[in-house]
Amino acid sequence: MTDEIDIHELTPDAQNANEGTPRGLKLLDESLRELGAGRSILLDKHFRIIAGNKTVERAADLGLDKVIVVESDGTRLVAVRRTDLDLDEPGGKARKLAYADNRIAELDLDWDAERVLADAQAMDLAEMFTDAELKEFARSAGPGEESDRQIGRGGRLYNAGEGHDIEPFKLAYRIEAAYRAAGGLALDLYSGEGQLASWYERRFERVIRVDKNVADVDYKIPALKFLQQHLPEFMAFDFVDFDDEGSPAREIQTLFAIIQGKKQRPFMLCLTDGNGLNLKLRGKFNPEMYLQDNDGIRAATAEDYEQFEETVTQFIEQVAGRYGFTPTPISSYRGREGNVVYQTWLIVPAPSGALEQNEANH
Ligand SMILES: C[S@@+](CC[C@H](N)C(=O)[O-])C[C@H]1O[C@@H](n2cnc3c(N)ncnc32)[C@H](O)[C@@H]1O
Repeated sequence: MTDEIDIHELTPDAQNANEGTPRGLKLLDESLRELGAGRSILLDKHFRIIAGNKTVERAADLGLDKVIVVESDGTRLVAVRRTDLDLDEPGGKARKLAYADNRIAELDLDWDAERVLADAQAMDLAEMFTDAELKEFARSAGPGEESDRQIGRGGRLYNAGEGHDIEPFKLAYRIEAAYRAAGGLALDLYSGEGQLASWYERRFERVIRVDKNVADVDYKIPALKFLQQHLPEFMAFDFVDFDDEGSPAREIQTLFAIIQGKKQRPFMLCLTDGNGLNLKLRGKFNPEMYLQDNDGIRAATAEDYEQFEETVTQFIEQVAGRYGFTPTPISSYRGREGNVVYQTWLIVPAPSGALEQNEANH
């Protein structure tokens, strides 16, 4: 049954989750003017608009007052047959309308994040939106919405807002290491405000965050103090990160000394050693820190700087071996203009017996 009604008898959907966009609306307006009404809109039984809210608004503005209503219970498709259009007409209106139909739908879509989140609670939208997409809505609906919006949806990372960006290779190698480790417990000892903590939280069942300066962590104390006072409580760790701007060599020695003979399972160790800058600017080198010799601090040489990456590598090999572990390098690279070394290691407890052997050598 068909009927003709006035467009003003239709009721817009006040809870429409699409806010529309200025560009989409402009294109819709132009398309209605030039090409006329295309695909049908959709109503519920009370003449409320399910789909086509924006089209109705623009059509009413343009004086397209009459609406042909086709009643349906959804068992058959409803086709609008445009008697004035022909797809075979080269460069004709029919082809242009095909473009306009798709492109306007695409350009005029701007989800109302709060609306979507509210609806996702009230009904099952799991087929329409993944968890990651809903999380993204939650982020854009939260504080900072305006600035997020200005960046534009297309260019925003899905984890934007989870800590500031960090050096890309450091991030890549750390994530690789996290996924090589068992997924239980991670110790993030120089946790900071970068994005690593949130990557670790994705990967591990539990992350213990330590930072001497940052408030929002589990232990706001120096890493050394954490190791001395609390490491025995977290001996089951699968992953430990020493992401220091200076050198974490002392802390790494302390870790190995504490876990010696007690840790039976392999773990991944990550480190950032920024001591290169010290060598360059302050001209001081402390070989003792890297278990090289006991002469104390001496003037740094150009060779110390050149060999910085090897020094860190040899240090890890030595300290792990000294305390009964076998280290396997996973990644090592020198970044930030040569001043910083980033490494990841697999550390495996040596079979019992190896430790005694090792200790006999000292
Ligand atoms: C390179 S940032 C860490 C960045 C972070 N891991 C990321 O990329 O997501 C170094 C952090 O170590 C902290 N820090 C420096 N010395 C420390 C120490 N001795 N113990 C604990 N935290 C320390 C600093 O406050 C800073 O937040």
